Amino acid sequence: MDLITVLLASVVVLFLYFWFLRADGNYPPQPSRPLPVVGHLFSLEDDLRPQYKKWHKDLGEIFSLNMAGTIMVVINGYDLIKEIFVKRADEFSDRAPFFLDKATGMPCKGIVFANGKTWKEQRATALSILRNLGMGKDTLAQIIQDEVGHFMQLLAQLEGRPTKMRINMNMGIANVICSFLLGRRFEYDDPTFQKLMQLLRYIVGNTSKGEIVSVFPILSLLPGDQFHSKRLAASSKAVIEIIVEKFIREIQDDTSEDVTPSNFVTLYLEEMGRKRKTGEETTMDEENLAKSIFDFLVAGTETTSTSLLWCLLYALNYPEVQEKIFKEIENEIGLERAPTSQDRTKLVYLNAFLAEVSRLASVAAHAFTHYCPQETTVKGYKVPKDSIIIPNLDSVMYDKKIWGNDVMSFKPERFINQEGKLHIPEQLIPFGIGRRICLGEGMAQTIRFLIMSSMFQRFQLLPRDAEAPPSLGYVFGADVSPQSFEIRFVDRRGEI
Ligand code: HEM
Repeated sequence: MDLITVLLASVVVLFLYFWFLRADGNYPPQPSRPLPVVGHLFSLEDDLRPQYKKWHKDLGEIFSLNMAGTIMVVINGYDLIKEIFVKRADEFSDRAPFFLDKATGMPCKGIVFANGKTWKEQRATALSILRNLGMGKDTLAQIIQDEVGHFMQLLAQLEGRPTKMRINMNMGIANVICSFLLGRRFEYDDPTFQKLMQLLRYIVGNTSKGEIVSVFPILSLLPGDQFHSKRLAASSKAVIEIIVEKFIREIQDDTSEDVTPSNFVTLYLEEMGRKRKTGEETTMDEENLAKSIFDFLVAGTETTSTSLLWCLLYALNYPEVQEKIFKEIENEIGLERAPTSQDRTKLVYLNAFLAEVSRLASVAAHAFTHYCPQETTVKGYKVPKDSIIIPNLDSVMYDKKIWGNDVMSFKPERFINQEGKLHIPEQLIPFGIGRRICLGEGMAQTIRFLIMSSMFQRFQLLPRDAEAPPSLGYVFGADVSPQSFEIRFVDRRGEI
């Protein structure tokens, strides 16, 4: 061995020695000493839920991980989540750089991944359009009701055959979102719509795999596409292309028939035109519009569809609950007309069912990553600049101190008070909390109510195998999904 090799080896050994000795700042407690360079990156399992649960129990309401040098802080329990994301919203409401965001070719635009002035204006504009469409004639509820009608037809056409519902459910939800965005729906077999559905499925299913390339950009130079980063980028750009060419251009050129003027794209373009005319400073432009549409489709389709799949699964596993809901609908609305959003307050037990499914399914178990742009402290621990902050919503959904010792039991009654009224505690936060709370919460709640009430009214939901309802086990990915299962929709009108 020559002298240079000995010297280099000594430097590496000393580096490793001091790395291991080094206390990791005064960061929130960590489950183990981080490895050099990669930190805890390879200690993470595919399913983070049991790991977070254990670390929450062992390390307390705040713990941290070293992700190849970036500190990731996990916040647990309702009180601390509220303190961080509501009371200290100024410090913890930004988003970190994200692979998918860059992959679209429009980084930091739109809503989900935007920060600062852009985020503020895009979010406020979207909220104001949503509010506008939800008022008066309640165009939004009407859009959803119409799509639910088409969706019930689709279920009837299955004629009680066992079916996997993921694709159908995604199509129904994406069509509601498209109707809101464009003022028109797609036929389920429309080629553009089908292509959009495939692209969205691929993006949502593989986003987390692509994230590793954000941590180690050099990986993108490897031949092949092991981390899906290349196909993710191509798919995201293809979605943006459909949005620009088919959605925005069509409305700008007014080439499409059957378009209701009360739609997101038209109202956004009108407001953009107004601001430009009056010389108001604005971030509103075509790129932000396209990216906001992308955000609605990606953030809204799979989450809402997943949460409805959980509703189906719980209905299959608790037939007595299903019958109770049917009776409530029969008594309060009858079987002659479809439920409308005005019926919402009448169906207390159905609402309690929907709340209990949101709690137990915990579809967005770890919400969405936040970011801390400036160094600060939480509970006496240092949270360095550029940390990633995770609200662990699971820790609230399954907290015995909030829900009682039967926290893991499926019990819609926990949301009905002694006067028989619906009571939703503020700790039920499936849509997150604070400034970044889900923008589509109202839409998602209306969709869930209208789809499930119409479904329970018309169909009896049965498992494929009458003796064995499908498992309530989950698959952890971009969201928490049920394992694949089959269901039969048997028309109560005896048409089949
Ligand atoms: C049951 C269905 C849904 C669930 C459980 C859900 C949950 C969430 C959660 C947990 C967040 C992150 C909150 C945070 O960062 O702390 C979020 C953000 C968001 N959601 Fe939803 N969501 C659902 C449906 C929808 C729908 C239907 C849309 C729109 C069509 C939508 C649009 C968004 C957007 C745009 C954001 C980003 C907000 C921002 O960064 O300011 N979501 N959602």
